[in-house]
Amino acid sequence: MVAELSNNDKAMLKAMLTDSGREWDIQQLLDLTGWNDQVHVAGSGKSLSESGLVTVTENHIKLISLDSEGKKALESGLLEERIWNWYLDSEIEGRTMQNLFKYGFDRDEAGPGIGLLKSIGVSLDSGKLVSNDEDRISSIISKRMEFISSISSDSIDSMDLDQELIEHFSGRKGLIAIEERISRTWKLTDKGASIDESVLSHVEMVGELTPELLQGDVWKGLKFKHFDVNAPTKTPTGGRPHPMQALIERIRKVFLEMGFSEIEGNFVQSAGWNMDALYIPQSHPARTMQDTFYLSSPERVDVDERYLDLWSKVHEHGHDTGSRGWGGNFDEDEAQKGLLRTHTTVNTVKHIAENPNAPSRVFGIGRVFRQETIDRTHLPEFHQIEGIIHEENANLPMLISTLKTFYSKMGYDNVRVRPAYFPYTEPSVEVDILWRGEWLELGGAGIFRPEVTEPLGTEWPVCAWGMGLERLAMLVLGLDDIRQLYQPDLEKLARMPIL
Ligand code: PHE
Repeated sequence: MVAELSNNDKAMLKAMLTDSGREWDIQQLLDLTGWNDQVHVAGSGKSLSESGLVTVTENHIKLISLDSEGKKALESGLLEERIWNWYLDSEIEGRTMQNLFKYGFDRDEAGPGIGLLKSIGVSLDSGKLVSNDEDRISSIISKRMEFISSISSDSIDSMDLDQELIEHFSGRKGLIAIEERISRTWKLTDKGASIDESVLSHVEMVGELTPELLQGDVWKGLKFKHFDVNAPTKTPTGGRPHPMQALIERIRKVFLEMGFSEIEGNFVQSAGWNMDALYIPQSHPARTMQDTFYLSSPERVDVDERYLDLWSKVHEHGHDTGSRGWGGNFDEDEAQKGLLRTHTTVNTVKHIAENPNAPSRVFGIGRVFRQETIDRTHLPEFHQIEGIIHEENANLPMLISTLKTFYSKMGYDNVRVRPAYFPYTEPSVEVDILWRGEWLELGGAGIFRPEVTEPLGTEWPVCAWGMGLERLAMLVLGLDDIRQLYQPDLEKLARMPIL
């Protein structure tokens, strides 16, 4: 046990053993040990008491000193004293309020001053101050003044002062200040007192292990300081990536790991690439102003005539796809309206158009825009995790197992798909993950219809998906309100899990 004592602990024990029955205060221990920092006494006192060698007694004391008004009273007298002196100096008939003002007291003083005198027995009789026991009043006032002078130069332990007067003055503004302090004393326990002083010699302890020390054999003979790895400490708050950025980084890593390459695209797109390429009918409700942000600048985004032509054939009658199309007239102006992309599927579709003959596995994490009213689960700007597998033998099981692998790498093992509908996929599925016993919908997926792939110039099937990033972020970060993701509250952000 003694072996576990630090040098400071030993020094303090040694000091206390010089008079083993005594109760020591801080100053005595500082003098005896030669330390000049109270922290050493407090620290060793604590560890010695934890080892049962010392008992610590805490005494709570109140120190009383003069406050600002008290210091003024010390120089020019307490208010009640000054008025009382005027009273004693005045003729009986002259002890009126008017005379008090004339004498030099203003209203701010006269009112409270007379109040104070009334509380010790002075009364007002038809405008005049009267008292039938002047000696008693004089004595009360002089006791108060004595109290004030007794604390004039130093803070005084409240136990050494008149308790009634402390109470009286603490009820008056600015006269006295009360400071609470804890003073400690230390005393050896029987066990502490019986320790043999010879085991308390100072041992050189090594606090830091340096590479130099480790190079030789010297360290083998040394004593090392113990570190308390469980000691409480401040949590460091340095810079860190925003949790959303960290999550995007992690998703990116997972897809790269799975052999996918990353693609990007612009926020501003034509309605044609954002919707017509995906065989979304021009009359579809999602195309209206309520859902889509159409732009006034650029109002128009040109689309290659080749695609306008193909899409109009596919939309009107199905072209060579085997489909009958939506019928009606395809509007090429409508297809060239400028908008903010409503989904990142526009990126994957363009990627196929640019690489129709090259098999590809690509993904992208990007921002999309929809006219949503902001609430607990909706934002007008959010992110999607998009991807495709475009190759000769792409199929539905491949799509499902890819998504399952992705979510399982993200830490979610329970994934299910349900039949769904999108104008551009067949079959279409909705992807759910199990979280705290509930199935949560995270996105859509499917195999692109021939109406989509044929104008793009490919005959291979395409597995495609688009998942919500914010929804996943809420799960990962344990949030129940989507808005919390983007509030610039540094304290909350610092407390979010590191991803
Ligand atoms: N674009 C769809 C959405 O925004 C998701 C999706 C992508 C569905 C690809 C099927 C295929 O919800």
